[in-house]
Amino acid sequence: MNILFASQIEPPERWLPLLERALPEDRLFTNFREDVDVALVASPPPGTLAKLGRAKLIQSLWMGVEKLLADPSLPRGVPLSRLVDPGMVAAMSETVLAHALDWHRRLYRYREQQEEARWHRFRQYLASDHTIGILGLGELGADAARKLIGLGFKVAGWSRRPKALPGAESFSGEKGLGDMLRKTHVLVCLLPLTDKTQGIVNAKTISLMPKGGAVINVARGPHVVVPDLIAALDSGHLAHAYLDVFDTEPLPEASPLWRHPGVTITPHAAALTEPRTAVAAIAANVERVRRGEPPFNLVDFEAGY
Ligand SMILES: NC(=O)c1ccc[n+]([C@@H]2O[C@H](COP(=O)([O-])OP(=O)(O)OC[C@H]3O[C@@H](n4cnc5c(N)ncnc54)[C@H](OP(=O)(O)O)[C@@H]3O)[C@@H](O)[C@H]2O)c1
Repeated sequence: MNILFASQIEPPERWLPLLERALPEDRLFTNFREDVDVALVASPPPGTLAKLGRAKLIQSLWMGVEKLLADPSLPRGVPLSRLVDPGMVAAMSETVLAHALDWHRRLYRYREQQEEARWHRFRQYLASDHTIGILGLGELGADAARKLIGLGFKVAGWSRRPKALPGAESFSGEKGLGDMLRKTHVLVCLLPLTDKTQGIVNAKTISLMPKGGAVINVARGPHVVVPDLIAALDSGHLAHAYLDVFDTEPLPEASPLWRHPGVTITPHAAALTEPRTAVAAIAANVERVRRGEPPFNLVDFEAGY
């Protein structure tokens, strides 16, 4: 098969040797040619997508595909697969657990106290005293849920279709969202960015959470209405926010988020694609195409993810 690697961001030298080893029968190249069977893309050079109308598969090198879907030149007749990379899934759960524990163990407050050389112990809670509510129980949300359950937290998840995840309470629909938020101490956003999920963390949804909780946004910046989040932190309704993703990235120097004492910022680093684990998933999809079988992790163009 002829496999095009097209990305302005992912360095080919990190991927091509691993791909060549996993797919020894195939031809891999980085400059477009007419006979592409499979295109591996992440922010491809302008004009690439429009030329892929005869490909058998467009395989994203990233888990989020909203930028590809927003590109009018994406050929709608070609199957598009998201990447589901076990290394990235593990990394995301580590980040979610780190932030959830930071809030639960009040580490963010001890860091503040250290600046003032202040020795004061806060009340201790059991993990089972706290509910972590996860927006999106897909590949990332479900893995984080399982690991949070393993630590003893109460876990609730909100998804489009109800889920049966042992140990987690499943919610869906608008009423389900409200019901989940009312018991959620730590709200984790792991939704794809679609017209239905944009702005979902806002004054109204935050106000339903019990006072003193935290928001962890590791999905996409526009899920959160930043002025509403800052107002909730300033009023003390929210104790802390952990933000990895922003409307504009890199986050502009002038953003009030940088210097807000209630905000922990990471530079879109919650989970990075890990070629060492991603290549096996890509090779499995190429084999599906070779055998004429439907690829894994197909994007639903209607649903937008
Ligand atoms: N910060 C980072 O470093 C980073 C890294 C990787 C990914 N991400 C982000 O994480 C997102 C999630 O990834 P994933 O692989 O877990 O996606 P996924 O497997 O497609 O799961 C998405 C989840 O969201 C739910 N959902 C979608 N639209 C909804 C709606 N309107 N109402 C309620 N639930 C809705 C889905 O419900 P159903 O189960 O019913 O379909 C599913 O449970 C990606 O889209 C990407 O933006 C961020």
